[in-house]
Order: sequence, then C-alpha cells, then structure tokens
Amino acid sequence: MGQEVAQKILKEIRDLPPFSAIANRALKLTNDPRASAVDISRVISYDPAFTARVLRMANSAYYGFARKVTTVSEAIVILGYETLKSVVLALTLQKFYDNEVRGYGLEKGDMWKHSVGCALASRLLATQVKYPAVEEAFVAGLLHDVGKVILNEYVRDEIDEIIELAGSQGLSFAEAEKRVLGFDHQDIGSKVAEKWNFNDTIVEAIRCHHRPERAKKEPELTAIVHVADFICLSLGLGIGNDGMLYPLKKEALEILKLDEPEIDNLIYSAYSIAEEIEKILT
Ligand SMILES: [Fe+2]
Ligand SMILES: [Fe+2]
Repeated sequence: MGQEVAQKILKEIRDLPPFSAIANRALKLTNDPRASAVDISRVISYDPAFTARVLRMANSAYYGFARKVTTVSEAIVILGYETLKSVVLALTLQKFYDNEVRGYGLEKGDMWKHSVGCALASRLLATQVKYPAVEEAFVAGLLHDVGKVILNEYVRDEIDEIIELAGSQGLSFAEAEKRVLGFDHQDIGSKVAEKWNFNDTIVEAIRCHHRPERAKKEPELTAIVHVADFICLSLGLGIGNDGMLYPLKKEALEILKLDEPEIDNLIYSAYSIAEEIEKILT
C-alpha cells in the first residue's frame, strides 16, 4: 500500500474528535479516592445522555430497588464507582463503535459487543491473576481493536488477499494485514489511543494484543487483553473475518501463569459477561 494511503490514514487519526472531555473528567474523578458521589454526579449531569443511562441502570430490575432512584448521586451510590466508570467509558465509545465494520466482517453492533466483551473479560482476568490495575485492563480491552474502525475501508478492498495470504502462509490475520497494507489494526489503534492521551501501558497493550510476547512496559496487561480477546471469540462475541485466525499465544499464558484448563474455566465463567453487556447496552 502506498505512502499516499498511509498519509490519508494518519490524517484521519489526526482529525478524530478528542476523547469526550466529560468522560475524561468523570474517569479522573472515579479514580480519585477523595472524590464524592456528589462531585462525580456534578460532572455526569452535564451530559443528559449519561444522566439518563445512569438513572436507567440504577432503576433496572437487576439492582432490585423498590424505590425509584431519581438523582445521579443516589444512582452512583447504588451502582458503585467501578460500574459507573465502565458505563461512562463504554457510552463514550458507543457512537464510535456502533457502525458496521464491514472490512472486518462485523455487522452493526458487533464491534461494540466485542469491545465491551473484551473489556469485561479483561477485568475478570485481571482480578483472577491479581493484576493490580483492574480498571486499566478494562480500558485496554475496550480499546484494543479501535484501529479497525479507521482501517475498515482500506481492509475491505484487500480482504481477499489478506485472508488468502493468512491461509496459505499460516499467518495470523494481523500478520497478513501488515504484509498487505504495511501496518495492521494494532499499529493504527495504538496511534488512536495516543491521540486520545491514554497512558503508555494501554497504548502498548493495543499495539501488541496479537503479539503479547513483544510487550516490554507491562507484559501482563498486554497478555490479559490477548487472552480476554480469545475468550470473547470463544464466546462468539463479534467474531468477524479474523476471529477464526486467532492463535492463543502460549507466551501470554506463561506471563499470566495460567494453563489451558484454567482458560476453559474462565470461558465458562465469562458466560455472565453476555448478561453484563445487555445491562450496559440497554
Ligand atoms: Fe485485534
Ligand atoms: Fe479483538
């Protein structure tokens, strides 16, 4: 693929809107142990869509409150900071992820489902392996395939060649993508995360999620996202064109000190993830 296309893609990334200022502030506050529910509700209340969603969640049958929750600060106490943070982030990305990503064979809503699924599976895995920054794992999972949204149309034109190359040479989809296009959705996704000012370890996890053995800064985080991605594909969450070309890297299991039977158990416990996705989506 020529220089010209590479320049076009870089320009597209440069022109992306900034990551929602409200989401950024709400996330900072949910990370601040001194912040109160009132502080956070003040930030969320700026956005009517967030407010409505947060109230709807707190009032959903799942939380089983008999009394109607009408204020955001009350809702925050019921939902808890962790859930709130996931909801704010997930809502911020929903619009961006909602379209079909045809180049990768993802129907409308698949990209979103896959990303939320990977975020939740990353969080589950992080807890299981006692990775200290559990929410960072959630964020990295949510963003891991963000490059696909940008590369979508370029991949669509070359998809037959990519799949053919992967099949004939025994390459992963990302490797074939890189040979045909000159870069893959990991490279482009990490540039998007940089543009949105996510920290270095999250950027690395995005850049290396199909090659976790290359991660240097925080190999554990990258390995978590890699395995969580595999778990989502095993659950059938947003498989697309590359889902069948996903070798689970043994290096990732070594980094996390997990063995294959434990992965089977994790896939089993991850069934509840589909339920949680419903909760975030509706
Ligand atoms: Fe990926
Ligand atoms: Fe993925």
